[in-house]
Amino acid sequence: MAVKHFLEFNNLTSSELETIFKKTKWIKSKYKAYEKYWPLEDRSLVMIFEKASTRTRLSFEAGMHQLGGNAIYLNTRDSQLGRGEPVEDAAQVISRMCDAVMIRTFEQDIIERFANNSRVPVINGLTNEYHPCQILADIFTFIEKRGSIKGKTVAWIGDSNNVCNTWLQAAELLDFNVHVSTPIGYEVKVERVGLLGNDHFEEFKDPMDATKGADIVTTDVWTSMGFEEEKKDRIRDFADWQVNKDMMKLANKDAIFMHCLPAHRGEEVTAEVIDGDQSVVWEEAENRLHVQKALLEYLLLGK
Ligand code: CP
Ligand code: NVA
Repeated sequence: MAVKHFLEFNNLTSSELETIFKKTKWIKSKYKAYEKYWPLEDRSLVMIFEKASTRTRLSFEAGMHQLGGNAIYLNTRDSQLGRGEPVEDAAQVISRMCDAVMIRTFEQDIIERFANNSRVPVINGLTNEYHPCQILADIFTFIEKRGSIKGKTVAWIGDSNNVCNTWLQAAELLDFNVHVSTPIGYEVKVERVGLLGNDHFEEFKDPMDATKGADIVTTDVWTSMGFEEEKKDRIRDFADWQVNKDMMKLANKDAIFMHCLPAHRGEEVTAEVIDGDQSVVWEEAENRLHVQKALLEYLLLGK
């Protein structure tokens, strides 16, 4: 049987996503009730980090432990990965010694080459192009708070980065809409996102217009990891793409604010919004833990 990877959001079908969201709810409540659930006893996840992380590392490491397994942390600084061993060779070896691999790296091509040579499932823990585990958690959080996301509107304010691209893929799969507002020069690159078409998103020049009628308002840092040399230009270009209270007022009354974190208060979002009543960012972060446990169980055991 072919190994199942999660390299992009659309590697899963809508019915597989539904299975994972249902399982997440069950796993979360079992965990909260202090009931042991060890479907991955004796199994190991290798986590490879080429970029920094707090949430992703912690949620995968704690999550594997909670499922009865363990997680092994590797980074490019102190493994052979940073000394020029081909990705293909590393994949052959690493995937013979563990049951799943999570990778946070730069280009999507790296994770694809790894997956093509891996005997076990590979999970994208963030690349320049996508951040699928984040959007799993975000959509699960919306479902918990408001029910089905089908037909709803997400306003994305800011850079058309990895998190934005993943929202766009998710919108096609789960049939909701994304209003995207980016500064000129930072627009969505449809060919890079791997979309079927453009009927699930709309681009807006003015971030205020994008927010009108939204059920979720979300944003992310102006400068993502790997783009640090553009930081100065981005601070100038993104100055008007800040989610603030006036913007939130244009969204639907019961709209929620999301951010993958880490956030920069006073840049992409005001403190008033991220620390305000409509913000769900802490639950969103916590749900990384639960949704990834369901994902691991699904990729390893098919249920
Ligand atoms: N949201 C997210 O992936 O956070 P980390 O960079 O801390 O893992
Ligand atoms: N877009 C951000 C997300 C961090 C979790 C980055 O890639 O740095």
